[in-house]
Amino acid sequence: MSGSKDLIIFDTTLRDGEQSPGASMTKAEKLRIAKSLEKMKVDVIEAGFAIASVGDFESIKAIANSIKGSRVCSLSRALDKDIDRAAEALRGAEASRIHTFIATSPIHMKYKLQMEPDAVIAQAIHAVKRARNQTDDVEFSCEDAGRSEIDFLCRIIEATIDAGATTINIPDTVGYAIPDQFGKTIKTLIERIPNADKAIFSVHCHNDLGLAVANSLSAVSHGARQVECTINGLGERAGNASLEEIVMAVKTRSDLFDLAMRIDTTQIVPSSKLVSTITGFPVQPNKAIVGANAFAHESGIHQDGILKHRETYEIMRAEDVGWHTNSLVLGKHSGRSAFRARISELGISLDSEEELNKAFVAFKVLADKKHEIFDEDLHALLSETKAPEQNETYKLISLSVGSQTGVTPVAKVTLAIEEQEHEAEASGSGPVDATFKAIEEMVNSGASLQLYSVNAITSGTDSQGEVTVRIERGGRIVNGVGADTDIVIASAKAYIHALNLMSGNDSRQHPQGDV
Ligand code: KIV
Ligand code: ZN
Repeated sequence: MSGSKDLIIFDTTLRDGEQSPGASMTKAEKLRIAKSLEKMKVDVIEAGFAIASVGDFESIKAIANSIKGSRVCSLSRALDKDIDRAAEALRGAEASRIHTFIATSPIHMKYKLQMEPDAVIAQAIHAVKRARNQTDDVEFSCEDAGRSEIDFLCRIIEATIDAGATTINIPDTVGYAIPDQFGKTIKTLIERIPNADKAIFSVHCHNDLGLAVANSLSAVSHGARQVECTINGLGERAGNASLEEIVMAVKTRSDLFDLAMRIDTTQIVPSSKLVSTITGFPVQPNKAIVGANAFAHESGIHQDGILKHRETYEIMRAEDVGWHTNSLVLGKHSGRSAFRARISELGISLDSEEELNKAFVAFKVLADKKHEIFDEDLHALLSETKAPEQNETYKLISLSVGSQTGVTPVAKVTLAIEEQEHEAEASGSGPVDATFKAIEEMVNSGASLQLYSVNAITSGTDSQGEVTVRIERGGRIVNGVGADTDIVIASAKAYIHALNLMSGNDSRQHPQGDV
């Protein structure tokens, strides 16, 4: 897409979204999300920051090799080694993009880069030229553009378009912009830069003041033709502009925007659920579009109005964003081939017959407890049974705990710790508290619990509960996720998942760290 009436949707869930504390994902998880973004017809998928770690590089490579319906992009600083690594990771892609950036605000240039403005321009030109030697689709971002001087932005953007940048991205890196002012900045840049018509202008807004979506939409009204966003608004600190809100605002108010998008909006809710399950970031019930209450009408007056004429209180249809599209896919009597076919339709690849067997056994156990198995159940099940990419130090062997009014619960937990079985018992204020204490008796992790949340994966009391546990140790945060029809078992699985993640190493480089 490149016509002036098209709006390009650039998803950065796998790159900026992954910069949310505790949201790191494995290669297999990133591939599943990339497949759901492709199904949604996202134009560009920013798959990661290739130089950050071997894991990031391998994930981008796997996504580049398997995604055909979206352009695959890697971030790189304006450094030769970053650009070359990004190009290498993207080699197998049918359509690729290198996204290179350097900071342009006085505060970043002086304190972070410790470079003179002219040297920053020279480095940006060099980076864009180097990237253009590797691919014909190059995006250049002026990091912290939201606090940069307009004259300097004009100079560096004109120079980078001359050097071959095809997209110019204006990030509000620290979420400082205000909609009216940000929109006018975009307009001024497009009007003042002589070669502005040779590139697509893009925006990338952070949500520190809760204005990321409003700023992005204002920019679109003033000429931006690409928006960078993430599913569920995931991202660094308060997050990025949320894809679902941008897309549905532009679609619902087509009277104001009049822009074409390729997005299949019915894939929004399934993708939101997938990202939440994988990252362990629950979606708040009152979140626009994808929150559980987004289409729930409580007041009698509203319900009455909706029954008489739906549009009285509804500006969008729940089914258009993928609510209620839960298809009953499998049940107790489904066989192996139906199971295999459905998981491959969901874009989940299993590496071996052994992995398929393990998943099928877990599916049969779940189908015995819960007769209707939905796609969300399969995603949660596969998240657990797919072989972890690093060895698991801790494994849950068994758990027993009871609830009785007036009696303090006691949990008895058996864990395998590096293949050795251990057992511990502890009491707590409730069954979950007792279970976590029993696990800690054996593990002594030294981590503190930051968040505990339970969500029902589907509706009905036989639904699986999905538990997220966030723990912190020495400044490092990880999220563990576990699902089961028994929420105490789901809680134990989530806690153990978090402990396993914490025991692995984390050597990723942060893109906005040292240059
Ligand atoms: O927020 C930001 O400035 C970024 C850039 C790297 C695009 O994420
Ligand atoms: Zn960002």
